Amino acid sequence: MLLISIEVFGFIIRFIFLKLDFNENYSMYNSKITGLGHYVPDNVVTNDDLSKIMDTNDEWIQERTGIKERRHVSGPDDTTTSMGVKAAKIAIERAGIDKDDIDFIVFATLSPDYYFPGPGVLVQRDLGIKTVGALDVRNQCSGFVYGISVADQYIKSGMYKNVLVIGSEVHSKGLDMTTRGRGVSVIFGDGAGAAILSREEDTSKGILSTHLHSEGQHAEELALLAPGMGGRWVTDIVADANPDDESYLPVMNGQFVFKNAVVRFSEVIMEGLKANNLQPDAIDMLIPHQANLRISQFIQKKFGLSDDQVFNNIMKYGNTTAASIPIALTEAWEGGKVKEGDLVVLAAFGSGFTWGSVIIRW
Ligand code: COA
Repeated sequence: MLLISIEVFGFIIRFIFLKLDFNENYSMYNSKITGLGHYVPDNVVTNDDLSKIMDTNDEWIQERTGIKERRHVSGPDDTTTSMGVKAAKIAIERAGIDKDDIDFIVFATLSPDYYFPGPGVLVQRDLGIKTVGALDVRNQCSGFVYGISVADQYIKSGMYKNVLVIGSEVHSKGLDMTTRGRGVSVIFGDGAGAAILSREEDTSKGILSTHLHSEGQHAEELALLAPGMGGRWVTDIVADANPDDESYLPVMNGQFVFKNAVVRFSEVIMEGLKANNLQPDAIDMLIPHQANLRISQFIQKKFGLSDDQVFNNIMKYGNTTAASIPIALTEAWEGGKVKEGDLVVLAAFGSGFTWGSVIIRW
């Protein structure tokens, strides 16, 4: 009897502590974004430029997506890694730390320089920093939000003090720049953004919470299927030498993606606000992943936000996937639109499907 009572008591104590751990932030630290940087290639590609190489036009692209122009790499100097390194150098300088103060690297991309190893280790090499850990995140348009969440947990746990998070993409080399690929290729652009997350002892500031989701059921609705070990590998593609092969080109069910995006963006922003007992009117700046200006406008309207409360730059850069939030956040901060004490919300949705949000007291 006594033994049973002790076990029941033990179970209740464990339950209470687990509940507390899951529901509240009891860590000694928060993480704070202390440095931001971005880099985009010089080469501007307008909608009119695209209309010279495929059957498209400025009116169609702007009406459906809001995009006016995007950047494409030209020449060998700008790669996913090298652009990430350039953005990272700016972020490190602005954070006021030395490269050797970085304890960990997180790199989010769907367009790595090499199939393996991922770009995280290349950043460690190219920045010439000590042999810290480097993690590659493969969550497409949600990659930066996932990366921030990972970095935040390492800092909250006390394991690391400064984590470098990069999102960088070279889309232009992997797109079908003919009329066949116009439904996808006009949307995406190249670029990189980076953030330094540092330990913050005041737990009312910095990253308050992060919220991540996935729904693999829709994996093939926005995907690049080859080369993949489960499908067609490089050797199959080379052996076939079929000019009509589309297996290594991205596919997107645009309308299905759009419908899911507006629902998931809304849900995950609300989830983040609720977790912090906040209402939508508390948002000072929402930085949505720049998927499509129409999606951002839908969310803005749904949450009753003014133009000053939502930052968009997709008009200039297109959708830069994992780089879109850090580029937008950097530009918003540089423009004085993100100030100390502001409630800043980052939200993303993309291939996977994956989606997530980050709630920050700046
Ligand atoms: N230029 C001109 N016409 C184009 C075109 C282009 N770049 N791309 C497609 N079209 C044509 C289609 O062939 C189709 O022609 P048809 O009616 O003769 O068959 C017509 O335009 C409509 O195509 P559709 O795909 O139905 O357009 P849409 O209104 O759904 O817009 C997207 C397409 C991609 C802009 C839209 O679905 C979208 O933005 N989806 C979300 C995409 C997204 O956000 N992806 C990233 C998520 S992270």
